[in-house]
Amino acid sequence: MAPQKRMMHLGAFVHETGQHVAAWRHPGAHYHSGVRFADMVETAQLAERGKMDFLFLADSAAVDLEGSPDARGRMGKVVKFEPMTILSALAAVTKNLGFVATSTTTFNEPYTLARQFASLDQISGGRSGWNLVTSNNEQDALNYSRDRHMSHGDRYERAIEFAEVVQGLWDSWDDDAFVRDKDSGVFYDTTKMHVLNHKGKHFQVRGPLNVAPSPQGRPVLVQAGASGTGRDVAARLAEIVFTAQTVFEQGKEFYADVMARLPRFGRSADEVRVMPGFYPVVAPTASEAQEKYDTLQSLIQVPVGISVLEHTIGVHDLDKLPLDGPVPEMPDTNGPLSRQRLLLEQAKRDKLTFWQLCLANAGPRGHVLSIGTPTQVADEMEHWFKDAAADGFNVMPAWLPGSLKDFVDLVIPELQRRGLFRREYEATTLRGNLGLPKPINRHHAGRLAGAAE
Ligand SMILES: Cc1cc2nc3c(=O)[nH]c(=O)nc-3n(C[C@H](O)[C@H](O)[C@H](O)COP(=O)(O)O)c2cc1C
Repeated sequence: MAPQKRMMHLGAFVHETGQHVAAWRHPGAHYHSGVRFADMVETAQLAERGKMDFLFLADSAAVDLEGSPDARGRMGKVVKFEPMTILSALAAVTKNLGFVATSTTTFNEPYTLARQFASLDQISGGRSGWNLVTSNNEQDALNYSRDRHMSHGDRYERAIEFAEVVQGLWDSWDDDAFVRDKDSGVFYDTTKMHVLNHKGKHFQVRGPLNVAPSPQGRPVLVQAGASGTGRDVAARLAEIVFTAQTVFEQGKEFYADVMARLPRFGRSADEVRVMPGFYPVVAPTASEAQEKYDTLQSLIQVPVGISVLEHTIGVHDLDKLPLDGPVPEMPDTNGPLSRQRLLLEQAKRDKLTFWQLCLANAGPRGHVLSIGTPTQVADEMEHWFKDAAADGFNVMPAWLPGSLKDFVDLVIPELQRRGLFRREYEATTLRGNLGLPKPINRHHAGRLAGAAE
């Protein structure tokens, strides 16, 4: 049989009103944020019409109280739906689209999280994915009975044990454990149930999970963290690596680095998809695309532009800096360290003033920016995809629904014409559409290894 052609994978990464900080001010935008279910249905169904692999929701669990009240009162990104709740509802109005929810290892318990994702997997017929984060936003800690954020290193240490427990719980049942035989009266086969009995530094979890086995083996594991430790965690655990890169060379370096780390964790490239964030601004002509970009940029208010930069790089009190002055040196943050480094490098490389950095950040927020015609945008995607910088992209619509509609109607047909993207879904599960192998239940892996000895 001829080997299958490598295809691009596309996620729709959607924020409340869109990725751009002024999205809510666009005349056509969904601007209620976290209020109208119908808006979310429209977004999900658009992504599914485009045959995109999944809808992806970022998350944090705090309203930002840093910065001036004036700046805060102008922000559209303040309230939203809790991801698991909204995605469970969206599963009922879609058939093939996957659902990736961000959920943190820093404030959750692994049993609860394993249960939630396993349930979303049942509700959706195997379309759930977990974006494992250790929490960007230092203020989240204040809502979880702590007075400060755990350190970067401690967060990752906890995350690794957390994920081991979650994956162990997802292996609680063999696929055929539930016989539900009314005649014999046997509901499940107790020999096909596995008790975890985890006792570690952070967690003590007996198991098994009280949710049935996943239709896709396990929910897909997504990871976003790009420091050295973050990359190791990606290589150890992630099936999708979500990453923020601004230029091709960086993307290529990141891709090669993650792939080079895999063998250390006994993994190979076919088990992982690297998907950078991608912020397209597309229109039939290049000048119309530029106009679209400029329109949204013109809606950025000064206090908001500064406040979003502070949030993206985890540094406060930047509103005292002169707008036309240089970007100063800054100490490493305990929050989004990799994002901070990328943006400060970008400022140095492109010789940006402080306000120019605010503006550059306010739309793509540290991800690839591509402005142009469908051909130009598809060219850029093809370059990253074919020249080993990406296996696909997390597409970040500037405002919703317009920018997602533009992408689905203008760019996806061009990618399909080039044979780079599917015309129909291959499967009903997220794992199936991503072409990822079904993980072997650890209890079977043990038995298989035993049989081979
Ligand atoms: C592209 C990207 C997206 C992220 N999305 C989230 C998110 O939605 N919520 C969150 O709490 N943390 C998010 N994080 C934060 C990471 O989980 C991590 O805590 C942080 O980036 C620090 O780790 P690093 O220095 O390894 O990147 C994201 C990180 C990256 C790089």
